[in-house]
Amino acid sequence: MNQAAISKSFTLPSGSEVKNRLAKSALSEGIAEADGRPSEALFNLYRRWGEGGAGILFTGNVMVDKDHLVNPNVLIAEDESFLSDYTKLSEAAQAQGTQLWMQINHPGRQTPIYLDKAPVSASDVGMPSKIYAQPRPLSEEEIIELIDRYGTAALVAKKSGMKGAQIHGAHGYLVSQFLSPLTNLRTDRWGGSLENRSRFALEIYRNMRAKVGDDFPLSIKINSADFQRGAFTEEESMEVIQMLDQEGMDLIEVSGGTYERAAMVGTMQKESTKQREAYFLDFIVKVREKIKSPLMLTGGFRTAETMNAAIENGELDFVGLGRPFCIYPHIAKELISGERTDCSVPDLLTGVDKIDMSGMLQTPWHQFQLIRMGKGLDPDPDMDLWMVYEKITGKKRPVVGEQ
Ligand SMILES: Cc1cc2nc3c(=O)[nH]c(=O)nc-3n(C[C@H](O)[C@H](O)[C@H](O)COP(=O)(O)O)c2cc1C
Repeated sequence: MNQAAISKSFTLPSGSEVKNRLAKSALSEGIAEADGRPSEALFNLYRRWGEGGAGILFTGNVMVDKDHLVNPNVLIAEDESFLSDYTKLSEAAQAQGTQLWMQINHPGRQTPIYLDKAPVSASDVGMPSKIYAQPRPLSEEEIIELIDRYGTAALVAKKSGMKGAQIHGAHGYLVSQFLSPLTNLRTDRWGGSLENRSRFALEIYRNMRAKVGDDFPLSIKINSADFQRGAFTEEESMEVIQMLDQEGMDLIEVSGGTYERAAMVGTMQKESTKQREAYFLDFIVKVREKIKSPLMLTGGFRTAETMNAAIENGELDFVGLGRPFCIYPHIAKELISGERTDCSVPDLLTGVDKIDMSGMLQTPWHQFQLIRMGKGLDPDPDMDLWMVYEKITGKKRPVVGEQ
């Protein structure tokens, strides 16, 4: 096996050179200032990640509208008012030649009711849980305004010195909600046919491109499928990826799942898929045959051997890692040098099926690690899962036998 495959540089279509093939996929940090600007904690975290040798670090999702947030203390870029703070973030992350790209997002219906009592979406299809309020459909004018907000955020990324921007088109957020026939019941030009459902994503891309110019790399993270009956399928994803490819995307990142079906963190993957690593590899191999845009795959990669093989076999161009970066902040450097060959993360199982299948502790447990690093502490791989459960639910852990 050629250990050097992941360490090779890569030149994106826009001409930008990325120093190696390892990327930190977006991880919503939840440690911005209360008004959404980058904080000291984020500077600490990104300085550490920047020292860790990755080719690209995608920021956690940055919100385009302060009235619609995925979680508290999330980053916001509505306009240029936080530009100097984003510039500090870029400097902290990029001092060692790693690129920082901004991931841009709107939650649509996937926003907890305590943060958003009046969510918006493609249609009025609610989440199957009382944690979320019923969304109302966006008007034509609101859609146009929102598209422009994504473009504005991309321009903030560029002006702050970041090296790229990414549309969050995966995991059931607003772009995903437009793509899926389960959540998009519109009968206007934004709904119905796949061409109409993908218009929102494509117009966002075009708006961003018009604002940032041809030489600034743009990307999208998209689901290989939503893994729900009647939702966005693999065939549809393939078609949308081809449309995006023709528009001139610099990088297409493939992931999968939504809040309802948490495939992105592997909670519903078959044991055989988990063991094989790289949850969506079969799909990306098919995509590769049809498009020319560079490809990144995220979800389940854990061993240097699998990562090197995927790059060497030409299956993809970048390996995306999420959870490993929460425990091993310097994982890229370590994998490239051979100091570490495996970056497995704990399974995080409580033994209570309802909790474990929902994947509800995956994100917070990892975010607690980011909080630690924001304070200058090391991650704690032994962090107690029930402590996290109690903190986020306000409930005591269930007593054995009462589950
Ligand atoms: C704490 C946490 C926060 C995440 N936040 C985001 C996010 O903001 N945007 C996104 O596209 N994916 C997000 N994800 C998903 C990851 O980017 C990634 O797709 C997923 O963890 C699977 O990759 P892995 O198996 O390497 O962890 C998050 C995952 C975790 C654990």
